[in-house]
Amino acid sequence: MIHRRWLVTGGLGFIGSAFVRMMLRERPDVAIAVLDAVTYAGNPANVSEVAHDPRYSFVKGDIADADRVDEAIGQGVDAIVNFAAETHVDRSILDPEAFIRTDVMGTHVLLEAVRRHKIQRYLQVSTDEVYGDVELGASAEGDPIRPRSPYAASKAGGDLQVLAYHTTFEAPVLVTRGSNTYGPYQYPEKLIPLFITNLLEGEQVPVYGDGLQVRDWLHVDDHARGIAHVLEHGVPGEVYNLGGGNSRTNIEITRELLRLTARSYEGSVRHVTDRQGHDRRYAIDSSKAQALGWAPRVPFANGLAETVAWYRDREDWWRPIKSGEFREYYRRQYALR
Ligand code: TYD
Repeated sequence: MIHRRWLVTGGLGFIGSAFVRMMLRERPDVAIAVLDAVTYAGNPANVSEVAHDPRYSFVKGDIADADRVDEAIGQGVDAIVNFAAETHVDRSILDPEAFIRTDVMGTHVLLEAVRRHKIQRYLQVSTDEVYGDVELGASAEGDPIRPRSPYAASKAGGDLQVLAYHTTFEAPVLVTRGSNTYGPYQYPEKLIPLFITNLLEGEQVPVYGDGLQVRDWLHVDDHARGIAHVLEHGVPGEVYNLGGGNSRTNIEITRELLRLTARSYEGSVRHVTDRQGHDRRYAIDSSKAQALGWAPRVPFANGLAETVAWYRDREDWWRPIKSGEFREYYRRQYALR
């Protein structure tokens, strides 16, 4: 029996599609409408297992297009969960404008829709990258945000609009800031899926600089569960950090992936020119979300091994991606390094 209808923007992307698949699997009371622009990273194959579910519907469109947003809202929705975003730091260095358009302007258009349609809940999926480089300790939700890449600055711009709509218009909004996420269906531009697929193809992996940068890894299912939890139990106007609790240097991740794919360091790793403005370390304190009743469940070693196994099994998913638009991007991104 359907009680709720949620609009999931960016539902064909990595984290959005994990959320859609999980909710349709675990929540018989929820119907989901997806609005997705189907950019390079939005892939209908990510939801093929649920696309025929009568509780699933789809509108193709950009969140910055108010008419498409209204069409997707249709007769009304109880909540909007905004996963739609440009998300890759390296692409934001090549083309910042797309990030401002989607992550800032798109968020603004959705917030206006929340007001116009009197939507009861809006959750903005954000990132720990808005806190910027954290030398020591862990960022809490009240800490100042100091974004340092065009991507992080665009996400921060979105977060600030969301929170301002709460203060000014009493919009019932929530923000989650997740840490680096990994798992099945992640577009192979990001560290973990890029390295796994390169290693499976017998290619080298490009480690930026000394590889001693630190990220905190969160399994995509834990991330999706955290978002659902905050959506239903969070306090409007509040921000919730969702961290995996798995801090690793990039070199540690690389060594683990080499082990899981039976490849050697010498034959496979290429240290390349560092990313411009590269943040050395991200770390967040998730005690606020934990006090709300969420905790990550997937042990990192299991999650990583299962992710490698998934990419091994699902060449049908990633091979077409790596031979398409991705090739030109990879050339632009890595040729000069
Ligand atoms: P990434 O997956 O792009 O996530 P983010 O930049 O949002 O943290 O990168 C994770 C880390 O891996 C980051 O420190 C950059 C590094 N990295 C490499 O060393 N080589 C690569 O080819 C990529 C894509 C990332």
